[in-house]
Amino acid sequence: MRYETAGESHGRALVAVITGVPAGLPVDLDAIDEDLARRQRGYGRGGRQAIEQDRAVALAGIRGGRALGSPIALTIANRDWENWTDVMSPGAGAGGAEVTAVRPGHADLPGCLKTGATDARDILERASARETAARVAAGGIAKALLRTAGVRVRSLVTRIGAASMAEPIDLGGIDHAAVEASDVRCPDPEVAQRMREAIDAARAAGESLGGVFVVHAEGLVPGLGGYATAAERLDARLAAAISSVPAIKGVEFGDGFALAAVPGSAAHDEILYEEGRGFVRPTNHAGGLEGGMTNGERLVVRAAMKPIPTLMRPLRSVDIRTREPVDASRERSDVCAVPAAAVVAEAEVAFVLADAYCAKFGADCVDDLSAALAAYRERIR
Ligand SMILES: Cc1cc2nc3c(=O)[nH]c(=O)nc-3n(C[C@H](O)[C@H](O)[C@H](O)COP(=O)(O)O)c2cc1C
Repeated sequence: MRYETAGESHGRALVAVITGVPAGLPVDLDAIDEDLARRQRGYGRGGRQAIEQDRAVALAGIRGGRALGSPIALTIANRDWENWTDVMSPGAGAGGAEVTAVRPGHADLPGCLKTGATDARDILERASARETAARVAAGGIAKALLRTAGVRVRSLVTRIGAASMAEPIDLGGIDHAAVEASDVRCPDPEVAQRMREAIDAARAAGESLGGVFVVHAEGLVPGLGGYATAAERLDARLAAAISSVPAIKGVEFGDGFALAAVPGSAAHDEILYEEGRGFVRPTNHAGGLEGGMTNGERLVVRAAMKPIPTLMRPLRSVDIRTREPVDASRERSDVCAVPAAAVVAEAEVAFVLADAYCAKFGADCVDDLSAALAAYRERIR
């Protein structure tokens, strides 16, 4: 499975084209809309979320609630487009709302230098994280495939600024309903309150905040991905997928960087065999990955998001045309988007996993995939 997106932040619409989806896969567009709504929620988001009410419209590739096996095209309208037609229309004469005070921490300056643009709007309209709505829609197709394979991908936020949950976090004991009910995606009410207070303080100071989230997946069979070539390694593909989410600056699997500080006996997960359950591990330091493959334990990926770069108390910058010092431009902006980024990362993880299932068990027909998966489960018991 592959996806590609198109669309500018204030253009008419976003588009996602997803290819390689097995024919017959049940697709629930309401579930995709729910994920789009989850991406829009979160304490600390800016005014844009009040304007947009994202809905995915299927243009191609789905008939009667099932994938046809042909490319799936989904589109999400930008409601704000109505306010931006003079600036963003594809017709001749559109323009204005130029941005020349390029913003530190954004694609503005390297994007202008790379393309020759002297209006950073040509860059930021596409580099904006509005594009991640299309990724979430594409990820919804991946989640539909994972549902048929008995896999569930979830996320939670463990840190916003200095407000953090105590480690280690027992992911098996997480109250998922509490995560979904929390506007910071944190199941601990006391930590969630401190996160909200940190966001309020940042907003009042013209500041922004980043944080840490965990994406985890249950129900995976061992052996997804591969050990034989660099391109097959699932950890590499997951790291690339999550790093592709704007503002993600660190990714770790299982105990990740903490593994560097402990001896081997405390780092690796012993192998046991239980009648009925098969191969099991009493611990999961590896986060469900060994040798570039799933090992059947819970997949645990943690990511760090940097603070939002657009600041209401702007940093120093330089005008791209005059080379004179200026304050960086201020676009309407979130103060903190860690909860939203966690939902986007769920979509990215789901896509990599769904592709791995298709690669191992077949991508033509969902019933063939299910039969191959059942035969594999039987063989490895
Ligand atoms: C869900 C989400 C929402 C974001 N919202 C904003 C925002 O409102 N303002 C902003 O300046 N950056 C926002 N960002 C971060 C920028 O898109 C990102 O930092 C920028 O494109 C530069 O990319 P880089 O941080 O990966 O280098 C958001 C990121 C995500 C994932």
